[in-house]
Amino acid sequence: ALQAVVLCGGSGTRLWPLSREHYPKQLLQLTGDRTMLQDTVLRLEGFAGGVELVDEPIVVCNEEYRFITAEQLREIARPSSRLILEPAGRNTAPALTLAALLAVRDGDPLLLVMPADHVIGDRQAFLEAVARAIGAANEGDIVTFGIVPERAETGYGYIRHGAAAPDGSCAVEAFVEKPDSATAQSYVDSGDYLWNSGLFLMRASVWIEAIRHFQPAMHDACARALAGAQRDVDFVRVGREDFMSCPSDSIDYAVMEPLAARGGLSASLRVVPMQARWSDVGAWDALWSLAVKDENGNAARGNVVFEASRDNLVQASSRLVACVGVRDLVVVETPDAVMVADRGHTQDVKKVVERLRQSD
Ligand code: GDD
Ligand code: MG
Repeated sequence: ALQAVVLCGGSGTRLWPLSREHYPKQLLQLTGDRTMLQDTVLRLEGFAGGVELVDEPIVVCNEEYRFITAEQLREIARPSSRLILEPAGRNTAPALTLAALLAVRDGDPLLLVMPADHVIGDRQAFLEAVARAIGAANEGDIVTFGIVPERAETGYGYIRHGAAAPDGSCAVEAFVEKPDSATAQSYVDSGDYLWNSGLFLMRASVWIEAIRHFQPAMHDACARALAGAQRDVDFVRVGREDFMSCPSDSIDYAVMEPLAARGGLSASLRVVPMQARWSDVGAWDALWSLAVKDENGNAARGNVVFEASRDNLVQASSRLVACVGVRDLVVVETPDAVMVADRGHTQDVKKVVERLRQSD
């Protein structure tokens, strides 16, 4: 069986002032009528890759978001019977470990790990890539999904891939998480690297074996936190003390990098290239790229007027916003904050958020 695991714990500070600590990006409607979480859960609809799809996704989120998450799942008719609640974020490796320990009891399904805050424009291509990965994952490998890099982005993982097997998957020769910009540039120039999309496919038991091997303390803390969990019909609230004591690390640093570099497991790492118009919507300029624009390249939401303006992204929530003679701006109006940014500098919005936090 194929079990979706949706990671829903980040805060997305670069999309301030829309995303906030108390309202992270995956719970927002950024591109359409549905939130990013809802789009993520619905993305697997109609999957026909030769394995049965488990109806209920596992959604791992902070307990602070329990009600809003459950409500969003209800809106799309996916009652949240498999909501795992974390008392605090410990990054993605513990989140996946909790899901794997929960799922492995139900016949060791394949876990499709999906970040809740990505956009995939071509759902069919995504489903085909997942279908291509099933064989290798069934055999016990860990499969990543690779994107042809567009720039020397330093916030991503880079995968050096070998030749493609008949199923379309490639061996992974190296996995480097978040390289510095010179290294990232050399990877892009070489043509041998793919971006790690942050989607993964593997058997629950394979992940558990990997985390036991590379991060035994993390495995044990997650196992204890789950043993001491409060279970209700629609959620599992993991044991606070045990989870708080869990080391914090990402899937990429905890397992992917060391597995690619040193091996040591029966599982090996493979990558399936995916051309599905993937975007992790890291910042406002990515949203402008994805948005529907008028003939002048302007994208607007809410009550917005443009005069002699080009290539702007403007979101108004409570007031009228008028732009005159401007180009390449991002303007986001909310009741308590207005942000005006150059479209080429939207990565730096997170610096503002950091400064605001310090002055709190
Ligand atoms: N439940 C839970 N708990 N989810 C979490 C936590 C946590 O503590 N921390 C992060 N997440 C969720 C985020 O909401 C996001 O959907 C996903 O896990 C990935 O975490 P990010 O923090 O966004 O990772 P990243 O963007 O720095 O890097 C990852 O994604 C890149 C592609 O977007 C890596 O996998 C990179 O290698 C990859 O290139
Ligand atoms: Mg991310």
